[in-house]
Amino acid sequence: MNAHTGKHTADATTVEEGLAIAEAQDRQYNDEMATETAMSNTLLTPRFYTTDFDELDAIDVSPVRADWDKLIDQMEADPNKGHFKKNEDWDHVDWEGMDPALKKEFIDFLISSCTAEFSGCVLYKEMKRRGNNKDITQLFQLMARDEARHAGFINDALREAGLRVNLGFLTQKKKYTYFRPKFIYYATYLSEKIGYARYITIYRHLEANPEHRFHPIFKWFREWCNDEFSHGEAFALLMKTDPKLTSGRNVYWIKFFLTAVYATMYVRDHQRPAFHKALGVDPDWYAHEVFTKTSELTKQIFPITLDIENPKWQPLLEKLQKANVDLDTARKEGGPMGFAKRLSAQARAGTAFVRLMLIPSKSHKVPENVRLEPAY
Ligand SMILES: [Fe+2]
Ligand SMILES: [Fe+2]
Repeated sequence: MNAHTGKHTADATTVEEGLAIAEAQDRQYNDEMATETAMSNTLLTPRFYTTDFDELDAIDVSPVRADWDKLIDQMEADPNKGHFKKNEDWDHVDWEGMDPALKKEFIDFLISSCTAEFSGCVLYKEMKRRGNNKDITQLFQLMARDEARHAGFINDALREAGLRVNLGFLTQKKKYTYFRPKFIYYATYLSEKIGYARYITIYRHLEANPEHRFHPIFKWFREWCNDEFSHGEAFALLMKTDPKLTSGRNVYWIKFFLTAVYATMYVRDHQRPAFHKALGVDPDWYAHEVFTKTSELTKQIFPITLDIENPKWQPLLEKLQKANVDLDTARKEGGPMGFAKRLSAQARAGTAFVRLMLIPSKSHKVPENVRLEPAY
């Protein structure tokens, strides 16, 4: 890509620069990418978020100043600059010869990952643009920079398959969901930490079983997840500035977000059996491994973790997943019968989720010092 545009998203030092490079690529590839229109519908499903930026801007990070400055210095030092682009480690990908089921699921994985990265990028960039608080705008600029690189890199991989996610189109056309700042903290903190746990688990698994590495992008996952780890650290520090966010009634919200994030991951991953088979990963094992790591990490700031060892946990996840499959089938079926089946599946999914929420959580004391380093 560098040959055409001069510079790569991986080398961009600000989010503005990264997005300008992506936009130039979009213009370049517009005509060739006939498949894009066909895909735009699936792209509309993952969400983009907006929030009360003034409230976020008013955060005073003085209570965590020492840890804050250290983290910002690490991010400013930018160890991953230039990392997220193809190099000699990028093996040839045989898209033509790939098993069609695997190809379909893998492309779905790349598109939803790219959209998720870009959703973070847009939210962080907007915060940076609207804010006046130097600490906050600096942090959000750095995080947006990283997410733009991540999204740009996934687009490199997609382009080899003749596809791409049109980032400019997404920014304009996607619906934005409003979340109060505290919900943004819980949801974003969790998605950064679970993202770290997901990427590092796959990376370590493929390190031990390289014959399952069917695509070169997995080789980039270690540095990738270290970026996500830092982003999660930043949100942990932001929450630490206000003890109310992680106590009292808010603990129920934390439980809700933990359950929702874990359950969503479980259901989504089980929609990609061929992808997990190719990786040599049992999705049930993978989910449990990721939940274990994420729970361990979130003890840095959340006073509870979900009891994922409870005998009811796994069967309820399976019920939820089954209800989701039935819901999908009923939607496709349509008509009055499809509608009736849809209602029944929705009710079952709702019940399973509520019962997951009712499993008592585990409480523990949150350490004085929140900061962690990636250890997996
Ligand atoms: Fe990212
Ligand atoms: Fe991130």
